[in-house]
Amino acid sequence: MSSEWPVPVEDFAAYYAFTPAALALRETVRLSAVRNIDLPEPILDVGCGDGLFARLAYPGRQVWGIDINPNEVRRAQASQSYRTLIVGSVCDVDLPTGFFKSAIANCSLEHVPDLPAALANIRRSMQPGAPFVLIVPTPDWSRHLAIPAALAKLGLHAIARAYGDALDKIFFHVHLHEDDWWRARLDEAGFVTDEVRPLVRRSTSWAFDMLLLPSVIGFVTKKVTGRWVLAPGLRPFSADIVRRLITAVADQIPDDDRAGEYLLLARAK
Ligand SMILES: C[S@@+](CC[C@H](N)C(=O)[O-])C[C@H]1O[C@@H](n2cnc3c(N)ncnc32)[C@H](O)[C@@H]1O
Repeated sequence: MSSEWPVPVEDFAAYYAFTPAALALRETVRLSAVRNIDLPEPILDVGCGDGLFARLAYPGRQVWGIDINPNEVRRAQASQSYRTLIVGSVCDVDLPTGFFKSAIANCSLEHVPDLPAALANIRRSMQPGAPFVLIVPTPDWSRHLAIPAALAKLGLHAIARAYGDALDKIFFHVHLHEDDWWRARLDEAGFVTDEVRPLVRRSTSWAFDMLLLPSVIGFVTKKVTGRWVLAPGLRPFSADIVRRLITAVADQIPDDDRAGEYLLLARAK
């Protein structure tokens, strides 16, 4: 079985309580990937969202969060995960110069059109030598999903592509590039990339795709209310069932060398 399985029980349950199952699965895999990377404080969390990731990844640490969406920042504030929260775009918001000893951008920079401005601002705020972790989707992440793979096998390549394109639209993906492209952008902004780790293997992608349809309700709820889940108190009753189900599915799916996401481990020059 892939190194991404079985997903940690506690992390999955913690995410599943507040997010749709599909997102909970991906975030649990990301969480496991960053847990063994030491990020010295103060940490800058770029595109921090609702703060759940920082609460689970860096409990009790001095983390600053920045997000362009005031509703997300409000939620992040309620999560008490951050020492300081900033509402604004990472491209032009004022950040203290040479202050952060590390930074993380978990699935946020692929949404930012002016990437050079974002990376330059992040670099300015960091100390030389400070580690910077980015998690971004691979260009063909959607082709690894179960439905597009099945469609492609049937020769229905156009529908498979349309399925992937629709997901990229829904998720507002602006940048979908190979790791070399990200390395080059990081280099231009004053970072050196030490390592690229593949994340979200085929088994995880397929399990994610299986969970997408039942997760649609969560995506609608988020649009309407700003929250993924309306009754987190009820979620523990189904968390184990869902986790066991997707584990059984993932067990049947052999991984290959493709990945749905890259984790780039860079450092400020
Ligand atoms: C997919 S979410 C990831 C949230 C969080 N990192 C997590 O792991 O849960 C992407 C986040 O990036 C934020 N974002 C997008 N463009 C941004 C920008 N220019 N500056 C700051 N945040 C941005 C969005 O508002 C959103 O909360």
